[in-house]
Amino acid sequence: MAFVRHDMDFLGGRRLRRLRQAQWSRAMVRETSLTPSDFIYPIFVMDAPEGRQPIHTMPGQSRLGLRDAVEVAREARDLGIPALAIFPNTQDDRRSEDGGEALNPDNLTCRVLRAIKDAVPEVGLVSDVALDPYTTHGHDGVMAGEVILNDETVEILVGQALNQTRAGSDVIAPSDMMDGRVGAIRRALDGEGHTDTLIMAYSAKYASSFYGPFRDAISSGNRLKGDKRTYQMDYANSDEALREAEMDLDEGADIIMVKPGMPYLDIIRRFKDTFNAPIAAYQVSGEYAMIEMGAKAGIVDRDAAMMESLFAFKRAGCDTILTYFAMDAARKLGA
Ligand code: PBG
Repeated sequence: MAFVRHDMDFLGGRRLRRLRQAQWSRAMVRETSLTPSDFIYPIFVMDAPEGRQPIHTMPGQSRLGLRDAVEVAREARDLGIPALAIFPNTQDDRRSEDGGEALNPDNLTCRVLRAIKDAVPEVGLVSDVALDPYTTHGHDGVMAGEVILNDETVEILVGQALNQTRAGSDVIAPSDMMDGRVGAIRRALDGEGHTDTLIMAYSAKYASSFYGPFRDAISSGNRLKGDKRTYQMDYANSDEALREAEMDLDEGADIIMVKPGMPYLDIIRRFKDTFNAPIAAYQVSGEYAMIEMGAKAGIVDRDAAMMESLFAFKRAGCDTILTYFAMDAARKLGA
């Protein structure tokens, strides 16, 4: 076959493929990097001395008994992952209308926090502040009829944050989306002398269909009455996310988060361009499950899709990524 050679003078010497020609030249000009220290690994825990109960909607993830949670914390530390986030699967008889179990100093989360702090003190511990693991109706706050009460919920969340901090939590992560909770928690923490406890605010948390497998993991999904649209954000909005983050920073948040992750990279970028603060993103359960299930169905190469998705977060402007891929990605990066 004879090729016609076109006049390419209009390129003026510019050929972007030159830098892509070899592994060395691509590596030389790579704009972002990914390391195990970019990750926070969210783990699910259950009330058992040991054992692992697979979560079917999240292939590769399990609810961990106490001993296994400590074991995973050790592995995470050895892989260079700086922090874990703890999510409890609460027993049925400990759930109530007002989620009072959140205030129990011996609740599952507190016991796990103490056990890991004791055995693996080098790992940072993030604990979620919201009532959904403890309520019979699966909402993040207390209800009066159909309404989620804001200020009454904040009162309980403050108690929950103090309870977790006393048990050893390093980072309080309010995921409830009540107004004013960051300021109220900061004040209460400082009042008890916990001035060094960080707050990572779920600032732009959207009412999303990608949380399904998580709700399965903590057994709150089948209980949930209605949806969370009166407190979590409308996915059609972007300016509102900036207002949320601005308020959280004013109220004392150390890190602001965007959640879910991949469908909201535009919000991450806006945060990065607007605020001089560390930015987290949560690659949520549904995003994880879609990649895992897609790989099982032969649609994508699992490891390649995992890495591409994590790099996308860094490129968008993330400083830290909460991801269920943390352990596997860290292993791959270390290899
Ligand atoms: C609850 C909470 C949720 C997630 C983290 N904290 C679910 C929800 O708001 O219903 C979702 C995480 C995930 O899907 O991986 N406050």
